[in-house]
Amino acid sequence: MAKHKITLLPGDGIGPEVTAAVVSIIECAGVDVEWDKYFVGAEAISRFGDPLPQDVLDSILRNKIALKGPVTTPVGTGFASINVRLRKTLDLYANLRPVKSMPNVITRYEDVDLVVVRENTEDLYSGLEHEVVPGVVESLKIITRKASTRIAKFAFDYAQTHGRRKVTAVHKANIMKMSDGLFLQCFREVSQDYPNIEADDKIIDNLCMQLVVNPNQFDVLLLENLYGDIVSDLTAGLVGGLGVVAGANIGEAGAVFEAVHGSAPDIAGQNKANPLALLQSAVLMLQHLGEMGPAKRINDAIEKVLASGPEHRTRDLGGTGSTADFTGAMCETLRKGTRAND
Ligand code: NAI
Repeated sequence: MAKHKITLLPGDGIGPEVTAAVVSIIECAGVDVEWDKYFVGAEAISRFGDPLPQDVLDSILRNKIALKGPVTTPVGTGFASINVRLRKTLDLYANLRPVKSMPNVITRYEDVDLVVVRENTEDLYSGLEHEVVPGVVESLKIITRKASTRIAKFAFDYAQTHGRRKVTAVHKANIMKMSDGLFLQCFREVSQDYPNIEADDKIIDNLCMQLVVNPNQFDVLLLENLYGDIVSDLTAGLVGGLGVVAGANIGEAGAVFEAVHGSAPDIAGQNKANPLALLQSAVLMLQHLGEMGPAKRINDAIEKVLASGPEHRTRDLGGTGSTADFTGAMCETLRKGTRAND
């Protein structure tokens, strides 16, 4: 495959450590990448006066793909979240979160393997709130045919290209008959174009109950923005939490792959950070780039390394290893796999 040019935003806190780990694992998997590296967040403010300089946006638009580490967002004062700005400016309308059980990440559930697709641009996150009269505020839920159709297509296309058998739309159309009703109607219309993929739907409260009772019954879940925000974290909890799941925000203009955890200032610079979440996002990124072979090799190596000794797992997963120990074990496993195939 040709060399890929990818925008790299290491971020801050543990961001530079986990991105460096992931970059070297991608290299060990034999993927040829030229990284276009930029500062964002506080570092970019001190250098360029903007937490998300135009150069960064231009780079993502040019390369159409970015790998991003976590960025500290000041609380109360300071700059607005660059994650929200990235999503809005680049119209990254689909949020994708695959959720899969992993060896030696102990939870109450086994063999969970589902994907949450969340609409990222509208619903109650449109920011349209106002005071009607003193003591009464209104927050507008915006649902459009255009965005509902586009996200439904995304979910079915994803299901088709990733060998998934079913897409379940999640809603509360029994109460919000117009807004959630439109979302559901668009889903049903789009589903007609995908006869090989089963399409069903669940009311959001029932879905939450069913997810904690038996998550294995679900495959791809399709949700509006607010339900998707909540359910994507609920499902992360089924497989070990935010430290082990991948995230991607995808649009026509480009795609940003990132870990869903934050910058973990408490452990930054101590060689303790777990790169697994960002690595899982990098696997999604490689799949998005059509690098299916390396993506699978990295996935297989993750399974092997997690199943091996505690010295290869970081402390958040109950291991005794460092960031470097996990990264070294991943590269060693990948190299062994390559030699075995020679
Ligand atoms: P956090 O996710 O950074 O940390 C919560 C706890 O999880 C901490 O104890 C931390 O040590 C641990 N942790 C997180 N990631 C880990 C990893 N990879 N390996 C091992 N342990 C890990 O959440 P917190 O403390 O609420 O946020 C810190 C900063 O990160 C804030 O400024 C927040 O705004 C920002 N943030 C950025 C995000 C992004 O850029 N995508 C997402 C979430 C938060």
